[in-house]
Amino acid sequence: MSSPRRNVELKATDPAPERSLATVRDLGAEDRGTLVQRDTYFRVADGRLKLREETPGGAALIQYARADRPEARESRYRVAPVQDAAALKEALDAALGTLVVVDKRRRLLLWEGVRIHLDTVDGLGSFLELEGVAPEDSDLSGERDRVARLSEALGLDETRILAGSYSDRLLAQAGGEELIVRAREAMQQAYAPYSRFRVGVALRAPDGSVHLGANVENAAYPLGNCAEASAIGALVAAGHTRIVEAAVIGDGEEPCVPCGGCRQRLREFMPLDATVHLLADKGARATMTLEELLPRSFGPEYLP
Ligand code: THU
Repeated sequence: MSSPRRNVELKATDPAPERSLATVRDLGAEDRGTLVQRDTYFRVADGRLKLREETPGGAALIQYARADRPEARESRYRVAPVQDAAALKEALDAALGTLVVVDKRRRLLLWEGVRIHLDTVDGLGSFLELEGVAPEDSDLSGERDRVARLSEALGLDETRILAGSYSDRLLAQAGGEELIVRAREAMQQAYAPYSRFRVGVALRAPDGSVHLGANVENAAYPLGNCAEASAIGALVAAGHTRIVEAAVIGDGEEPCVPCGGCRQRLREFMPLDATVHLLADKGARATMTLEELLPRSFGPEYLP
């Protein structure tokens, strides 16, 4: 088997693509124009497998593996040119299943062996990618150095540099939507005859499973339970102690915010940078981190 090709990669958000384009042109990067690309990712056990269809260009099957870390990282990949993209896509979809499709426009520039990608990804926004393509015998230090120089010229810092791939980001977004649908279902089951304010919560555990809760009121008012408390109970009873993402939906016009007590309840099981979606049944929504909901909070790590 041939050994994979290697490169050093960095991905970042790009709030000002025009400025990035001007910066790399000033550095003398060669402009190779715009490509329209569709990547279809298949479900595989190891690494990633995607069929790339490119205009102008053609199609290729690309297999690769890289660590999901934000710093410039090594990627190992194989590229097989494809004659009949439609037939191969059907065959792989039937055998493995399709994970996600990523559509983007890519402005490609080349600078000292580094590919510069100014990408606009459907549903995600604008990004910048640097790929230092390595010759077979390289120890990657030269590639790392050139990627670092470009990254500095472009002003990339830790607030912009990303781990993970476009496909992961699209999947996370779709996952968020699924969580919201499930929270809405839970809300329909709320027992709230006194306040008439129904709340539904969906919590995702690290294994991807979703756990639901609704508010449960009582004629003796203080005995009512919030939806978050019910959902946490369901998650713990299913054998979990970590929450990776949460959705809260309530009646009314404004996105439903968890009460102070429930923010602290979530804090027990959720990392501060995890995502919480807040929704109103009528459609208004907001997405934030737990830390934004509960700044400077107290948690289990404070205790001996
Ligand atoms: N409620 C929740 O379920 N979660 C919250 O975080 C805010 C309030 C419920 C409790 C009660 O049944 C109703 O909303 C009105 O307070």
